[in-house]
Amino acid sequence: MTTSISEGRVSRLKRKMETREARIGIVGMGYVGLPLALLFSGERFRVTGFDIAPDKVSTLNAGGSYIVRILPESIQEAQKAGFHATSDYSQIAEMDAVIICVPTPLDDHHEPDLSYVRQTVESIAPFVREDQLIVLESTTYPGTTEEIVIPILESGNQHGFRVMRGADDSGIYVVFSPERENPGDDSVARHDIPKVVGGCSPAAAELGAAMYGTIFRRVVPVSSPAVAEMTKLLENIYRCVNIALVNELKQLCMKMGIDIHEVIEAARTKPFGFHAFYPGPGLGGHCIPIDPFYLSWKAREFDFRTRFIELAGEVNTAMPYFVIDQITAALNERTKALKGSKILVLGLAYKRDVDDLRESPSLTIIELLREKGAVVAYNDPYFASVGQGRHYALNMTNTPLDRLAEFDAVVIVTDHTSYDYRAIVEQSQLVVDTRNATKGIESPKIVRC
Ligand SMILES: NC(=O)c1ccc[n+]([C@@H]2O[C@H](COP(=O)([O-])OP(=O)(O)OC[C@H]3O[C@@H](n4cnc5c(N)ncnc54)[C@H](O)[C@@H]3O)[C@@H](O)[C@H]2O)c1
Repeated sequence: MTTSISEGRVSRLKRKMETREARIGIVGMGYVGLPLALLFSGERFRVTGFDIAPDKVSTLNAGGSYIVRILPESIQEAQKAGFHATSDYSQIAEMDAVIICVPTPLDDHHEPDLSYVRQTVESIAPFVREDQLIVLESTTYPGTTEEIVIPILESGNQHGFRVMRGADDSGIYVVFSPERENPGDDSVARHDIPKVVGGCSPAAAELGAAMYGTIFRRVVPVSSPAVAEMTKLLENIYRCVNIALVNELKQLCMKMGIDIHEVIEAARTKPFGFHAFYPGPGLGGHCIPIDPFYLSWKAREFDFRTRFIELAGEVNTAMPYFVIDQITAALNERTKALKGSKILVLGLAYKRDVDDLRESPSLTIIELLREKGAVVAYNDPYFASVGQGRHYALNMTNTPLDRLAEFDAVVIVTDHTSYDYRAIVEQSQLVVDTRNATKGIESPKIVRC
């Protein structure tokens, strides 16, 4: 009897997902939440976007966009399908599913800052109701859903609803499902990226799979939220450690007179057991430099040291300093000092073809150059101006490419595909290339590092 009641409730919600009658609320209209809202909207779901930033809410409601790769037309198309944005959490009660996509940064002490997740769950908890699916997508350490999200949901909702466990016949369904987007990489369509789903109960897992199954071709169910949380961290730690490995080997190869990029190209012809990663000026973005430390922090609770993560962090963090050394040496070869030299940083974004500056090594490089007395400018088609750097305000505006010849060195930090590297080399006095963007161009002006 108990099972059939809960089965009835689950099937009703599942049917609503399948028929697109379910209303989807997405909390956090950022790089993750907004594209997800558009995916659901494209599948004819009525989507509500929740965000505490009033400018984001008003831009979206005016049919505009604040993310370069999302065109205003896509927002307007979604509006026709019922999409709107709000800061009014009472509308949570009208949703059948609520997906949380808020930031999970590190604090000043390099420890997980879950304040955004906590605040979000505290804000939605009073309006959460039975038979609602609540999903956390923010990247975080294993245990967050169980230890942070569920207790706040249960203590904060006015009707005393509980999260459904095991064979309970009613409650709130809770799931963790990590976001796996690769910004700037269109080689895999978003709906072709398999979606990992870990539910707090079989019913929650089934509903999570039903919902995501409407927009993703493949759903990968795992046995618990903690497994799903750890899966995301494994993926990002794997990336972080391998990038550190090639960054270290690049430095050795330079000493040995070997081109690391040629080595990687040769190694990647191996049809098994090798996946290519590429060296660069240091890690950036909201994920790879941050997420691994969520696990390091959690591991301490178990008297465990995550040595690979710490070593990788050390190597990757040192890369901007290595770049400065290379610029200094290249100028020195030309009998110039870094102090007083005019340096143009080409590309600010943390990676190619994105308008995202978070944790970008370019900011560290600019600050280090300034500290050493260089006169620094930048060019990046994605940023007309830059206010805040890593540690202080930079207050810089974009320098047009037709002024390249004025600079003692042009440092390629981000290899946007829109740049014409041959023309850049021709017009510059010296090019320090941290991305192998000038591959195939032969010129004594180029220093690759
Ligand atoms: N950006 C990526 O490529 C990427 C990829 C995979 C996973 N992730 C993870 O996804 C999560 C979100 O990242 P993002 O890049 O979208 O962040 P973001 O900063 O672009 O967006 C987060 C949004 O949440 C809003 N917000 C903050 N607190 C809120 C609250 N209490 N209520 C409502 N809205 C609130 C912010 O105003 C912002 O618009 C993070 O955990 C991140 O690690 C990001």
